[in-house]
Amino acid sequence: MSQTESYNEDVVRQFVVATMFWGIVGFLAGVYIAMQLAWPVFNLDLEWFSFGRLRPLHTSAVIFAFGGNALLGTSFYVVQRTCRASLFGGSGLAQFVFWGYQLFIVMAALGYVLGVTQGHEYAEPEWFVDIWLTVVWVAYLVAFMGTIVRRKEPHIYVANWFYLAFIVTVAVLHVVHSLSVPVSFLGAKSYSLFAGVQDALTQWWYGHNAVGFFLTAGFLGLMYYFIPKQVDRPIYSYRLSVVHFWSLIFLYIWAGPHHLLHTALPDWAQTLGVTFSIMLWMPSWGGMINGLMTISGAWDKLRTDPVLRFMVAGIGFYGMSTFEGPLMSIKAVNALSHYTDWTIGHVHSGTLGWVGFITFGAIYFLVPRLWGRDSLYSEKLVGTHFWVSTIGIVFYIVAMWVSGIMQGLMWKAYDSLGFLQYSFAETVDAMHPFYVIRMLGGLLYLIGALIMVYNLWRTVRGDVLRPVAAAA
Ligand code: HEM
Ligand code: HEM
Repeated sequence: MSQTESYNEDVVRQFVVATMFWGIVGFLAGVYIAMQLAWPVFNLDLEWFSFGRLRPLHTSAVIFAFGGNALLGTSFYVVQRTCRASLFGGSGLAQFVFWGYQLFIVMAALGYVLGVTQGHEYAEPEWFVDIWLTVVWVAYLVAFMGTIVRRKEPHIYVANWFYLAFIVTVAVLHVVHSLSVPVSFLGAKSYSLFAGVQDALTQWWYGHNAVGFFLTAGFLGLMYYFIPKQVDRPIYSYRLSVVHFWSLIFLYIWAGPHHLLHTALPDWAQTLGVTFSIMLWMPSWGGMINGLMTISGAWDKLRTDPVLRFMVAGIGFYGMSTFEGPLMSIKAVNALSHYTDWTIGHVHSGTLGWVGFITFGAIYFLVPRLWGRDSLYSEKLVGTHFWVSTIGIVFYIVAMWVSGIMQGLMWKAYDSLGFLQYSFAETVDAMHPFYVIRMLGGLLYLIGALIMVYNLWRTVRGDVLRPVAAAA
């Protein structure tokens, strides 16, 4: 049996399909809730379609279903190849992780629509769904770790370090944050073990590190594997990647209180969060530089390779959002940005730009290889996808910057007699045009993803779109 045949690629293929499927669902939900914010009539006067229920459906679908499937699938692909070992636990364990994770997603989504929720952002599912996820996650850790243990390669490649930090930290965050007391079995209701400001701090220790380890460390694992592969060059600096790894994971874990500035949280804890957030700028940019410099000497490939363009633009958005984040952590800046659309703009430059683009790049890389095709159906369509979605992101985040800063300034404006200058309704009215622009931006991003699905589907079928001249 050849080396390649012994790798478990079935499960990676399944995760790739799931990533695209949930991606479309999540983007569609995003566009729909963006429409609801622009035109509230889309709430349809039905509780199941209300913004309050569909918003967590969107956030969970994009983070845990789209992002999660991308992370699980690519980690299984990368760990097998960099360790030169087949997946530990065989096909049985891999299938349990895949189907167990999809069941978790479906249970969570049904809960949101039916109003079964713990009400903690990014951790809304009730206790029985939490327990199920813990079981699946332990199985995932066993499969990943077991593969590393039986590696034939002496060295553990840096991408695996990032994936492992993601798996272990998410496990700790999930278990501690989900500690709760179930009060009814059939009613599926529970209350958190934490209360008051402790609850808030635990929530943001969890929420911030979900960003740090789910949306950042895991996707840095993708960056460290797929960029060198796509440009066919080694990573720029291995030493920098080690410094990047340890400093990033050490600093991230302390920065959660920046979500609770100017609240009842003790001032020293807020200042601690701010300090660590500002320090985070350094490892974040160290990682960005390491990714970008890997391409140095091969920059010309950007002109001809749209898949690489996705990856590089993804790193660019990573740099942008990790510059903006420390800035927003400064108390004086946060006094303006908090509760406004500025935060939403920051979130989506990180998620649409970084998480989305690095994932699209990796999937374009993987699909021809996983399905044994020589090339993608159409590179030109990859280029179209790139431009349509980039313009979509620009619409989205620029609209949110303008509306967020305007919103913050309007809330704070006083007239000469010391009265608030604008009523709340006036600030809402001022947002309207920007909400329409954001919705259009999201729609472009969704259209881009649909173009990608079409391109991948034709690739899987084995079709190749030849330029007209070549065909003739
Ligand atoms: C150095 C890195 C970063 C720092 C220091 C940082 C800092 C911040 C700050 C200060 C806020 C606003 C908190 C508030 O006023 O409520 C925020 C919100 C947020 N950031 Fe970042 N950020 C960073 C990178 C990122 C990246 C790369 C992503 C996504 C991939 C991201 C996703 C989010 C999300 C989802 C929220 C909203 C949380 C919520 O309120 O629900 N951040 N971040
Ligand atoms: C078609 C693309 C998308 C559209 C149109 C969209 C739209 C929206 C809207 C309208 C909100 C609610 C904003 C508010 O409450 O004021 C939101 C929240 C959010 N979205 Fe998206 N989104 C998209 C893609 C994504 C992706 C790909 C991710 C992550 C991978 C993501 C993560 C989030 C998060 C974390 C929040 C909550 C932010 C917070 O609480 O501060 N979104 N999105």
